Amino acid sequence: KIDKRVDSVLKLMTLEEKIGQLNQYTGDRDATGPITTSPNKLKDIRDGKLGSMLNIRGAKETREVQQVAMQSRMKIPLLFGLDVIHGFRVTFPIPLAEAASWDLTAIENSARVAARETAAAGVHWTFAPMVDIARDPRWGRVMEGAGEDTYLGSKIAFARVKGFQGKGLGNLDAVMACAKHFAAYGAAVAGRDYNTVDMSEHSLWETYLPPFKAAVDAGAATFMNAFNTLNGIPATANSHLQRDILKGQWKYPGFVVSDWGSIGEMVDHGYAEDKSQAAELAIKAGSDMDMESRSYLPNLAKLVQAKKVPVSLIDDAVRRILRKKFELGLFDDPYRFSNEARQEKELNTAENRQAALSMAEKSIVLLKNEKQILPLSKELKKIAVIGPLAKSEKDMQGFWSISWQNDQLVSLFQGLKNKVGDGTELRYAKGCEIADSSTTGFAEAIRVAKQADVIIMAVGETLDMSGEAKSRAHIRIPGVQEELIKAVQEVGKPVVVLVMAGRPLIFNWTADNVPAIMYTWWLGSEAGNAMANVLFGDYNPSGKLPMTFARDEGQIPIYYNALSTGRLAKNDTDTRYRSAYLDMPNIPKFAFGHGLSFTTFDYSGLMLSKSEIRLNEKIDLSFILKNTGKYAGEEVVQLYLQDKFASVARPVKELKDFKKIMLKPGESKTVTFTIDREKLSFYDQQLKWGTEPGDFKLMIGTASNNIQLEKDFKLIN
Ligand code: IFM
Repeated sequence: KIDKRVDSVLKLMTLEEKIGQLNQYTGDRDATGPITTSPNKLKDIRDGKLGSMLNIRGAKETREVQQVAMQSRMKIPLLFGLDVIHGFRVTFPIPLAEAASWDLTAIENSARVAARETAAAGVHWTFAPMVDIARDPRWGRVMEGAGEDTYLGSKIAFARVKGFQGKGLGNLDAVMACAKHFAAYGAAVAGRDYNTVDMSEHSLWETYLPPFKAAVDAGAATFMNAFNTLNGIPATANSHLQRDILKGQWKYPGFVVSDWGSIGEMVDHGYAEDKSQAAELAIKAGSDMDMESRSYLPNLAKLVQAKKVPVSLIDDAVRRILRKKFELGLFDDPYRFSNEARQEKELNTAENRQAALSMAEKSIVLLKNEKQILPLSKELKKIAVIGPLAKSEKDMQGFWSISWQNDQLVSLFQGLKNKVGDGTELRYAKGCEIADSSTTGFAEAIRVAKQADVIIMAVGETLDMSGEAKSRAHIRIPGVQEELIKAVQEVGKPVVVLVMAGRPLIFNWTADNVPAIMYTWWLGSEAGNAMANVLFGDYNPSGKLPMTFARDEGQIPIYYNALSTGRLAKNDTDTRYRSAYLDMPNIPKFAFGHGLSFTTFDYSGLMLSKSEIRLNEKIDLSFILKNTGKYAGEEVVQLYLQDKFASVARPVKELKDFKKIMLKPGESKTVTFTIDREKLSFYDQQLKWGTEPGDFKLMIGTASNNIQLEKDFKLIN
């Protein structure tokens, strides 16, 4: 039915109007000021030269701009898009932090809340989720994805798309998702943003494409292509990616938007001579909408007239875009999302803040807790809160937040104040700045530390140190913050360090010497309350690292599911003609999947329904998980597999399933997993997905480097 309606509109459109639908401008407006969309842009809208605008938000503001579109000859409504990456008005933890929860329901709900707020502010489309697999923490955009693992990343991609799109486009609380950046953007050479990507077709299919496929399966309305070249071809002009794989093999019915300016940037890549050629290459390769490069609008009509671009390609792109406008119900009512009363009601509700708080608690990873320093007693009399991030609200929101209401962010210090009673005194010292070299604040920090029973330290990155165009060659905790930790630790009081950052940082001295460390990332609006809840044991941490933490930049890229080599080092000293470094161990500082709880868990009794299966059979496995500690808590049990010998070398282990299990103290549960053909499959040399008979090892772990139970089994013909 929609296709008929689309065709009936398409039939009436001039070529110029069709090309207008493929054009997207930014709205040029700041967060709180009036619309500053230039008169030229408004004229283009009126002339039917625009299909979509990004960065316009707010019920009133979107209505105003839509009214201009309604003055155009065809009265085709605009799509409003925005980077709602981790929340709209209520900010959720950054996506990498959410991934650390390994809680798919909570992650879906986070996107659901964001979608409700976004849609209530007149916006139809979020440029999320970013589903790029990333193995290089120097790359600033690791904060925006789900980390290094393809299996976890695919599950999260699915959950996020479902969350944004809810019960489907057309519902007033659903926004279009956008799976980005197609493809392999996360593999930029040397972790430098926008840099070249060079990889085998095998790695592309095995590691980088599955989260995109998961997004297609979840019904993602749109895709965004990428800034990078892939094996020499810009992703934006990559027919193999967009035509053969996405729209061909995967039969993707949605549309592809370019990344900001990426069509025009093909000139800088040295791939197109000018924007006209760039437009030709991009449309042919399946890029449907031009975000801000202004290549399509001035050039496509001429290219059609010169018979360089068939009009059928333009029609296909327009159809894809119009279809979404119909699905959203915009042809029935272009203002249906722009309702100020609804906006007032939906934004920043107590319920939304509660969801952000719960997500923030789940995102925290307890890296270390010697002598059970944590949780802290609520009876403590004097707590020192030290560090440049202790009172920061702004940085808690993290990069890619829509910073409207900074006064509604809770700092660590405020969160602690909200938590402790009158009998506990909180003393604060900043100690140093985040990134400069002055140590003059140390003396005050030491003075405050000396008076305390326990010291909580807040260190890390400011919100603009990880994110787009925020690659860093050095990923140590910046400035003199680690020196500050050393100086404070020398006071001899118990120290808890909270690291707040957008990427896995390196902090070896702290990791080796400080007894308790929590990795809190950037946790969003409720950051301080969530950290306080965990510090005092009102929430028992359950997060697990979604990325490997290197011990040195020299190890990067480092990831748990590497292949073996012919010369695998057996241990840290086994370096002679081994695949090893002479000057440092191969193992990371903290492994993928690592994360502690205040309680302890025991794994026992692994049983397999069979130790030999045929191709279409399954193995059911079970084991007992017991909470052996004093606190109720959740454990993420992780199932890894290794295909021992295959026609393509396989990783030493690969995550294939996981479950998050809640247990009371002393409680046991039988945990089950099923190993089916899908879990045993891989891409062979011909890139055919399937299984090969042979020996497999299954491993059940509490982290990728902490396997508790294992057994071998065989797949036979
Ligand atoms: O959505 C983003 C993209 O991820 C990076 N470049 C800009 C786009 C729009 O803001």
